[in-house]
Amino acid sequence: MASYYFLLFVLVTAFALSEADDNKLCTYFYSDSCPKLLSIVNRGVIKAIRNEARIGASLLRLHFHDCFVNGCDGSILLDDTNSFVGEKTAAPNNNSARGFDVIDDIKANVEKACPSTVSCADILALAARDSVVNLGGPSWEVGLGRRDSITASRADANRYIPGPFLNLDKLKENFAKQGLSEKDLVALSGAHTIGLTRCSLFRPHIYNDSNIDPSFAKSLQSKCPRTGNDNVYQPFDFQTPTHFDNLYYKHLLAKKGLVHSDQELFNGNPTTDKLVQKYANDNEEFFEAFAEGMVKMSNLNPLTGSKGQIRINCRKNN
Ligand code: HEM
Ligand SMILES: *[C@@H]1O[C@H](CO)[C@@H](O)[C@H](O)[C@H]1NC(C)=O
Ligand SMILES: *[C@@H]1O[C@H](CO)[C@@H](O)[C@H](O)[C@H]1NC(C)=O
Repeated sequence: MASYYFLLFVLVTAFALSEADDNKLCTYFYSDSCPKLLSIVNRGVIKAIRNEARIGASLLRLHFHDCFVNGCDGSILLDDTNSFVGEKTAAPNNNSARGFDVIDDIKANVEKACPSTVSCADILALAARDSVVNLGGPSWEVGLGRRDSITASRADANRYIPGPFLNLDKLKENFAKQGLSEKDLVALSGAHTIGLTRCSLFRPHIYNDSNIDPSFAKSLQSKCPRTGNDNVYQPFDFQTPTHFDNLYYKHLLAKKGLVHSDQELFNGNPTTDKLVQKYANDNEEFFEAFAEGMVKMSNLNPLTGSKGQIRINCRKNN
């Protein structure tokens, strides 16, 4: 009998240790320490979207730009100071990444309910999911337990966040560096069913690329001249830019992708062409693949256990 209990003890301990060693996130991480977390975040997202529907797109992108730079660790939320250079002013983020004040608002409410408990990285992961859901997209379970970084890297943000002038091979390479597949690339790019982009970033595509519908190119050229209007924004999905649906892929089939990198997904490569066709024809397939890709992206390289910290103010270290 004693040896039976000893064996049980060994097994349970081994299990507990292996769990603790694992960088695994879990959906119930805060269910005792902050039971209201999910409703506080969702309420904050709904309020922000009511105020401006585009913000849902901005929050989703913020999470993406956090995760692709050394993992989902809230690094993108750190402000630059006189003695610290962060990711906010990296080329893909400067004057482009937005939604920081929404995260601040939500964090303040979370701090009131459960002080020094919930990381900014987790709040951002939840806000991205809730943004998609509230704009009509799919839902997924968000694993929790990320901690916040105490560092950030502008150089790494410039290195790892993909740009709109990349060709398919480079896009695939960029995603592969994060352990994300070609399927993830095509599915996650479907995020461009919501949100906007700037003239300076789609200009080369509408003037120089041949894989674009001529009348579509022409209508955009009137809004985005060869010089000037650099910061004039256009929706990626010209029909329903605040509704999360599969129109993005239908536009790609019609050669009406707004930036070069988008149209690259449907430009003669058999594998990605097939995926684009599949998601254009079947919204459910898209939603499933998007949710799956988001779970993978959301799980990238989190700080867990005693690494990092729980920031009180998402903009600075404690
Ligand atoms: C595949 C490579 C990708 C490239 C090259 C790319 C590029 C871009 C560019 C250039 C913009 C516009 C920035 C601006 O004009 O200020 C943008 C916006 C956006 N991106 Fe991506 N992106 C990619 C993947 C993703 C992924 C994986 C997601 C999320 C899962 C995402 C979500 C968004 C959203 C929602 C917006 C609109 C943001 C807003 O309106 O505030 N993108 N992206
Ligand atoms: C970010 O944008 C601001 C305002 O346009 C500009 O003054 C600054 O030089 C930019 N920072 C970097 C690192 O490019
Ligand atoms: C189009 O390509 C030419 C030749 O490479 C280049 O000089 C020009 O700046 C490009 N135009 C745009 C709008 O990107």
